[in-house]
Amino acid sequence: MVLSMDRWVGKVAVVTGASSGIGAAIAEALVEQGLKVAGLARRKDRLEALAQKLSNKKGKFYPLKSDLTKEEYILNTFKWIKENLGTIHILVNNAGYLGKTTLIDGDSDVWRNTFEVNVLGLCIATREAIRDMRANDIDGHIIHINSIVGHQVINFREFNVYISSKHAVTALAETLRLELVELKSKIKITSISPGLVDTEILPNYITKHKNLIEEKQIIEPENIADAVVYALSTSPHVQVSFVQILLHWQNEIIASKIAF
Ligand SMILES: NC(=O)c1ccc[n+]([C@@H]2O[C@H](COP(=O)([O-])OP(=O)(O)OC[C@H]3O[C@@H](n4cnc5c(N)ncnc54)[C@H](OP(=O)(O)O)[C@@H]3O)[C@@H](O)[C@H]2O)c1
Repeated sequence: MVLSMDRWVGKVAVVTGASSGIGAAIAEALVEQGLKVAGLARRKDRLEALAQKLSNKKGKFYPLKSDLTKEEYILNTFKWIKENLGTIHILVNNAGYLGKTTLIDGDSDVWRNTFEVNVLGLCIATREAIRDMRANDIDGHIIHINSIVGHQVINFREFNVYISSKHAVTALAETLRLELVELKSKIKITSISPGLVDTEILPNYITKHKNLIEEKQIIEPENIADAVVYALSTSPHVQVSFVQILLHWQNEIIASKIAF
């Protein structure tokens, strides 16, 4: 077994959207592994409750209120991290927004917010983290939390603009990979695409489908955190480029045999 998190112990990881769901589970896993984790989100009370929960673990969680739709806010947050915690070694772009909308008569504010959080916020955070890594000669790791809908259009009602934003994440992971290759950089980029995960982002009509939660027919946020730890644990010369995580029955969604 060559997997090891040892080289990350005591190093700084930034996790966006750490106030709930997958981001909170990732932050928890990284703190348990001994990292300093800066957790970003708007709901400071949730972040502070997580910091309290993790206070006796090997690493430390730093709750940082930030809004990914505001560039100035993101820049100030990254500045604070660099000055107070140290060089960023890992960025997990996890924050995401899914607003119910249609294309035919949808709300353009919902569309705008979707792209600001899922795409532009991710780009700005990535740029800031890579600048810091390169300035300090760190072979760090960028992880995008993408989605199965980042790879194909699945018929989830009112997901429309969200699906296109996740397709953008697929493209952004690959274009970042090309830019890093051109620079001969050893910074890694991993894109992780979950199927349905039991979090607050999912609309009720999905979570109520066939009693998914009661029957445990849904992925847990911790399953995605495991994938993040796996990608980070590989040797420096090994890159996990893309991971897709589904439950057995979710293959049927991909095969379009289940209608929501
Ligand atoms: N659950 C699923 O089935 C599933 C499947 C595939 C992919 N994903 C992806 O997984 C990621 C995490 O989502 P989740 O399922 O864990 O849902 P979630 O519990 O709703 O988490 C979303 C996170 O994004 C943060 N966020 C939203 N808008 C923000 C903003 N303007 N500024 C800063 N943070 C913001 C939220 O924090 P605040 O509200 O406190 O700001 C929250 O921490 C997302 O990228 C989502 O697209 C989820």
